[in-house]
Amino acid sequence: MSDRVTVSVIKADVGSVAGHTCPHPNMMRACYEVLKNGVADGTINDFYVTRVGDDINLFMIHERGENNSGVHGLAWDAFMDATKLAKKMKLYAAGQDILTDAFSGNIKGAGPGTAEMEFVERGAEPLLFFMADKTEPSAYSLPLTRIFMDPFTTTGLVIDPRAHEGYIFEIHDVVNSKKVIMASPEEGYDILSLLGDTTRYAIKRVMSKNEKLGVGAVVSTDKLNLTAGKYVGKDDPVMIVRAQSGFPAVGEVLQPFMFPMLVPGWMRGSHYGALYPCSVADSDPSYFDGPPRMVSLGMQVSNGKFQGLEDPDSPPGEHRPIDYFAGSVWNNVRQKAVEMSIYMRGHGPFMPAILAPEEMEYTTRPAVLEKLTKRFEDIE
Ligand code: F6R
Ligand code: MG
Ligand code: MG
Repeated sequence: MSDRVTVSVIKADVGSVAGHTCPHPNMMRACYEVLKNGVADGTINDFYVTRVGDDINLFMIHERGENNSGVHGLAWDAFMDATKLAKKMKLYAAGQDILTDAFSGNIKGAGPGTAEMEFVERGAEPLLFFMADKTEPSAYSLPLTRIFMDPFTTTGLVIDPRAHEGYIFEIHDVVNSKKVIMASPEEGYDILSLLGDTTRYAIKRVMSKNEKLGVGAVVSTDKLNLTAGKYVGKDDPVMIVRAQSGFPAVGEVLQPFMFPMLVPGWMRGSHYGALYPCSVADSDPSYFDGPPRMVSLGMQVSNGKFQGLEDPDSPPGEHRPIDYFAGSVWNNVRQKAVEMSIYMRGHGPFMPAILAPEEMEYTTRPAVLEKLTKRFEDIE
């Protein structure tokens, strides 16, 4: 076995029960069967199928590197089977994120979101998976800058010699499809100057300055709404983070989510709502199609496979990750997120409850302006 492994998270919303809420368990089982066959035929080593709100998330581990057509094809087949079931059951928005009829070797641009990282497995390799529903990739910018740049969040930046070196950021301009590589702490203020504009910039990747350690975090930044040429849904992004031993500790990675920050998305992808950290089971949107949910799951990477809380000899796919936000310590944040979301709703269809015009997933503005063209007069 090669000591380089690739973790791929590929996600899609291909239909759900009673609104944009929760995929049917049969859809999840269909994905499970496809990925199980992928282990049997040697495409992947191991996998886990889960969801956040209406999005199915496929966690896969293999030795084929990023953008591998076999691995992407497997995810495509899983989503196609789930879509067939969703259509048969007449579920809501069946096949929503499937934007092409035929798979052409890479799932990027075809609708589903991807986050992939290749690295050399360390002696012990703790991995955190983040899955968000009803928001977009920039939702990870504030937490990632706190985790990898802020010594008041990550004490490791001050007292762990490897973390003390700082980190490299790959920042994407998601509107123009451009990227820039920047270093922290040297360029910390410049990095924040870009990322503060959440309508345009998002972090794609964070790397250790220590080449042996390699990649530390990766986010799915596929701008689904732009890919489709029209808004078809916020991206509901995923993130993978490696923790400990030169990277921020698990607790340092989770800490920023104690702040229920306002993120774009929520109802009709057109509002600001407070980020609600929760378990998979609590991830069904329940208030104004939200509030935007964030789930965090933890597993080890062990000899090219996933290791959770299950028996180490259990079959591939049957994992039980740590569900970090399930615990009562997060109750207070959830409560605050609901209070803040109610406060934002108090503004109804006025800013800052709604997004800037170019960010709205739904709008009637052009049609209204068109209708009024002749009635607009100069002000004396
Ligand atoms: C947000 C989301 C939902 C829908 C809303 C309207 O990302 O998925 O808030 O936008 O439920 O959905 P449609 O237009 O399908 O009636
Ligand atoms: Mg949806
Ligand atoms: Mg969703």
